[in-house]
This record gives sequence, structure tokens and C-alpha cells, in this order.
Amino acid sequence: ERLARYVDPLPKPEPLVAKETRPHPHKPGGQVAYHRIAMRRVDVKVHRDLPPTSIWSYGSTAPGPTIEARKGEPMMIEWVNELPEKHFLPVDHTLCGAGKDLPEVRTAVHVHGARVEADSDGYPEDWSVSGQSKTAFYPMEQDAATLWYHDHAMGIERLNQYAGLFGFFLVRDTEEDALNLPRGKYEIPLAISDRLFYADGGLHYPDSGDPEAPWVSEVYGDVILANGVIWPYLDVEPRLYRIRLLNASNSRTYFFSLSNGHAFHQIGTDQGLLAAPVEMKQLMLAPAERADLLIDFSSLAGTKFVLQDGKLEILQFRVAETANTAKTQASGMPTLLRHIEPIAESSAVRTRSFTLNEYMDPKTRLMLMLLNGQYWHDPVTEKPLLDSVEIWSLINTTQDVHPIHLHLVRFQILDRLPFDVDTFLNNKQLNYLGSAAPPEPNERGWKDTVKAHPETVTRIIVPFQGYAGRYVWHCHLLEHAAREMMRPFEVVSATH
Ligand code: C2O
Ligand code: CU
Repeated sequence: ERLARYVDPLPKPEPLVAKETRPHPHKPGGQVAYHRIAMRRVDVKVHRDLPPTSIWSYGSTAPGPTIEARKGEPMMIEWVNELPEKHFLPVDHTLCGAGKDLPEVRTAVHVHGARVEADSDGYPEDWSVSGQSKTAFYPMEQDAATLWYHDHAMGIERLNQYAGLFGFFLVRDTEEDALNLPRGKYEIPLAISDRLFYADGGLHYPDSGDPEAPWVSEVYGDVILANGVIWPYLDVEPRLYRIRLLNASNSRTYFFSLSNGHAFHQIGTDQGLLAAPVEMKQLMLAPAERADLLIDFSSLAGTKFVLQDGKLEILQFRVAETANTAKTQASGMPTLLRHIEPIAESSAVRTRSFTLNEYMDPKTRLMLMLLNGQYWHDPVTEKPLLDSVEIWSLINTTQDVHPIHLHLVRFQILDRLPFDVDTFLNNKQLNYLGSAAPPEPNERGWKDTVKAHPETVTRIIVPFQGYAGRYVWHCHLLEHAAREMMRPFEVVSATH
């Protein structure tokens, strides 16, 4: 890449404000906000000096429009598939759910982190084809958080998301309002995604070299996009900003820092505000994780520096000499954010253990990545009771960090404990090495995606609240999920 750095401004995805309403699906006489969002092929500029790139988008950019939601205000979204019928990225028809007998282009929209009924959740097999639409209902009975939406269609999710099918879904509530956090132009949703491009600007998704089975186990781009642009800059005022960071990459885990060594504060995680801001200089963020940050530029007037991932530069901040008006200084760094009640281990009615495996199938010579050795189509084995609490213990036998995401629920991380993998693989015995580490300070809130570290048992505690029905849990490295590191689970109501 010989592209000039910091010649394009950072785009800000358009906030989506509902202009229409529809009858409430469950409350006679009630009305709810209604959006219609079409998925289309569009051309975008990812860099001043690159020809336009064809992408698939929920609007006219990737990330798509930012959906603005409020706790207590339900919403309906009609997701319309207006995509071409052929994919422009390498579909692997040998993958589960992507067979040649099925339409090649399918979409299933999932709002990651939303507490919704199963038929609105974007179950991977509940897909729509071009010309079809699917209307989902979002009750918004959940706390303020940085959620996001993305495609989840069985077997091609990794291609659809790479093509550009993702966007922010922000939930606000009165408790958060009261904190007077930076708003408007001082609040920046920032989606980070790495990509490969051809010299003509075309999007390049790597393949295995086998046209019959092009799947690859992970994808790493050589450029990192911020809100869909390569090496953009952002003009900021010397004041406090709220940056809602999302790792929208297929595989890459980032270690974010600022090149001037400046510290920042994390105020929220996947499912909302932390108890108090956590000061940090480096942030590890795996695919699908979010970090709600406050960055105070007030001591940095007149300087330029970059957001980076190790040696990889991403985004340049250009701090103005003076703030726009004194009034904009109103919001300061809060000291307390939200009360977070730790869930007592004793409240769990059940503990389940799962292995995370990667191995070469001796027969097919294919790399398999599975949860507890089970395939997607194996019978459902996880049937937690609605409103019960369970502990899920993730035994990662691999060398990879797998970000494990559960739909529907939010959870807390209990601890992480390294173990001896060889002993475990040989005789199923867990020999722990060292002692259990509590979650990092910036993980001590509500999460929906947890980093399962290599050769470590990661324990989470999960209240299965919301709705009965069939949902999924999976590794959010999208290439892993496509190789069946994804399983259904079924929340069952006690009355059944
Ligand atoms: Cu981000 Cu199963 O989803
Ligand atoms: Cu994985």
C-alpha cells in the first residue's frame, strides 16, 4: 500500500430517526416507531486515491445508518433484501448451510446484544433472499448500551459482514442521560474493520486456493478502516469526547492505544456502563466487543496523534487550539456511572462445561472448529430455564483467543484459569496452572461477548432472562463460526 495517510475526514454514520409508526404487535392500540432498511449494493470511496469500491450496505455506507433507540420505546424494523442474487465474494458451498441447493445470497439481520424474541433475532437459518423482507420487533426493555447490527446468514455471514453489512444500534436511557456525557458532535461511533483491496479499489476476501472449498480459517486485512475509510483524520476540540468503539472485524483482535501515550477512560462495555470509569493506555478488543470511551483532549490543544494497533496506524486526531465555546466544556469526567450488582455464584442452578476445539479431521483433512465437539446440526443440548442463572465454563484447548457471544442474554465474567492442555486432551483431566484471575477492570460490567483466552478456562455467569425460544451462541471470529463454532441453545419456560 502506497496510499497517502490522513487525507480523508472520518465519516460519521447517519443517525436514523424514525418518521413512521406501526401498530404495536402485542399491545392493542399502541404504536411503535418503524424503520425500513434496505440492503443494497453501493459504491463508496474508501480513500481519496482509490477508485470507488463496490460494497453491500444497509444504507449508502458501511457502517450503515446508526439506529437510535431508547429503553422503553419499542421499535420495528423491516429489513429488506435488495441485494444481487450472486455473491461477489468467494462462497464456500461445502460449509454447513451454504449448499449449492440453496440460494447463494441470503441475509438474516441480527442486532447483536438486543434482548428480543427468537423470531426477531436473526436466527442464521431464518434468512431472506433478494426481493424478500423480514420485519423484526425490538422491545427495547434493556439498559443503555452500544449495540450493533450485522448479517448472520448461515454459511455466508463472514462474507456479508465483510461486504459491509453492519452498523451501530445505540440504546439510551434516562440513567445515562443524567450523566451528561458528551453528545452530538462530541459523541463518535467508531467502527474498526480490517480489509484487503485490489489496486482497482475492489474488495478482496482471501480464499484457500481451492475453488470448490475457498473457506479460510481467519482473515486479516492489510489496512484498517475507521467507519469505512482508510487512514482518516478527525478534527476535535480540546475537550472531552465520547468514542463508542466497535471491533467490526471478521478475525482481528486489536490492542488499541494513542501514539502520544495519552491515557483514556473506558466507561462502558458490550452491554452498557461500567460502575466507574477505568483509566487505561491500552485496550484489547476482540471481534464484536465494544468499548465506550471518554477521551479528554483538553490538555492536547494544537497537537496531532493517532489511534493505533501496535504499529498499525488507524485514525489521526487533530486537536484544535481552542474549544468552540466555553459552554461545550459542560460535561466533565463522571466518577460513578451505574450500579452493577455482581451475580452471586451461589445463585447458579447449573454449571455447564464446553471445550473449544480446533483440529484436523483425519478423514476429510478439513480444519474443524467446534464447541464441545458438536456440530451445528447436532441436537440442542443446552436448554436453560427461563429466568434461571447458569455458569458456563469455556475450556479453550487452542492457541487462539475466541470471542464467545451468546444471543439474547447479558452476562458477567467470573474468572479465568490456565490449565494444562496436554493432560486435558489425553485424559480429560483439568489440571489448573496458577490461580484464577478475576476479569480485567474494564470487563467488570455486563458483557455479551467474552474473550476465551488460549489454554484457559473462562467462566461466565449468565441470567437467562428475556424470552423462551431458540437462539445461538458462537465464536465471533466469523470464519470460525462458519466452520461450526456455533451452536443453538434453547431457553425453555418453566411452565412447559
Ligand atoms: Cu454479533 Cu451471533 O452475533
Ligand atoms: Cu474462534
